Amino acid sequence: MNKQQAHIVEVGARDGLQNEPPLDIATRVAFINKLSATGLRHIEAGSFVSPKWVPQMADSTAVLQQIERVPTTTYSALIPNQQGLTQALAVKVTEVAIFIAATDPFNQKNLNQTTESALRHYESLIQTATDQGLAVRGYISCVLGCPYSGSVLPETVSQLAKQLYDMGCYQISLGDTIGIGTAVAAQTLVAAVSRQIPTSAIALHFHNTYGQALANIQACLELGVHTFDSSVAGLGGCPFAPGASGNLPTEDLVYFLQGQGIDTGIDLNQLVQVGDFICRHLNRGNQSNVANALLSQTNTDRNCHAQ
Ligand code: HMG
Ligand code: MG
Repeated sequence: MNKQQAHIVEVGARDGLQNEPPLDIATRVAFINKLSATGLRHIEAGSFVSPKWVPQMADSTAVLQQIERVPTTTYSALIPNQQGLTQALAVKVTEVAIFIAATDPFNQKNLNQTTESALRHYESLIQTATDQGLAVRGYISCVLGCPYSGSVLPETVSQLAKQLYDMGCYQISLGDTIGIGTAVAAQTLVAAVSRQIPTSAIALHFHNTYGQALANIQACLELGVHTFDSSVAGLGGCPFAPGASGNLPTEDLVYFLQGQGIDTGIDLNQLVQVGDFICRHLNRGNQSNVANALLSQTNTDRNCHAQ
């Protein structure tokens, strides 16, 4: 990828909505269609996990069936097992994502398995998915700290990243699930992972709990990472990480990248409208500073014209 471009993976419809009150299918579909129209090229559209564990993502089959797909956009889904893969294949996604945490306690809470057993199980799942022609993305959670067991060594994450990459994941998204990382820790982590897999295969997934996400992204851009996950309006969190707030808002990320001449191909004004749409449906505040600034300007302009 050209140094002046960045690739954004929009996770609001999955990571965002999985931690909000459940929405009806029509609203989820409208949300994804509106995201598609902004120029986003990768939208994580849902997950095929147990609806008992994450009820918000039930009906992802209907959502994936009903969205209008832009041919150049990737619509992916999160899967934990063969049952999820079967559902993902049935709705013809071209990409799936598997997920594992860097610590045992988090894997027990999120997958009901130890890290070791999840890895064994993923080896065959990734093989089956790639045999069926699917691209597989691998998430590693809790890369800069775990809500249950505290600090995490960069070497633990880099070994796990290598294992997933060697199993066939084309990209590894490093998730700061509880948003505690700072720029130096993020750089140390990326440097360690880059010693095990190509830097071009690394994506970063920062939750913005402590407001550090953009500083961390700047630090990691300097190391050559160009793929970032974010969530419009900063929706969400993680149901198994108490206190974790949403991902970095996509509007803030796009504005931040544009400000240094990095092209994302996304229409910021349109994106702000999509964030406003979903916040109204969820009856919640918008976590994006950029969106709030632009929306208040629009409202002021409207009021001025009306006078
Ligand atoms: P389990 O209870 O051990 O599974 O859960 P099981 O195999 O015993 O099955 C229990 C029931 O779930 C059965 O139904 C299965 O059919 C059903 P029953 O017979 O009781 O009626 N089931 C499923 N249903 C639909 N789709 C499936 C599926 N699998 C089983 N795929 C399991 C194990 C892995 C299923 C469960 O723990 C689970 O679904 N976990 C997912 C949790 C989750 O989605 N967490 C959030 C995503 S991760 C995240 O947010 C972090 C990330 O954003 C990165 C970051 O921020 O760091 C990615
Ligand atoms: Mg997340």
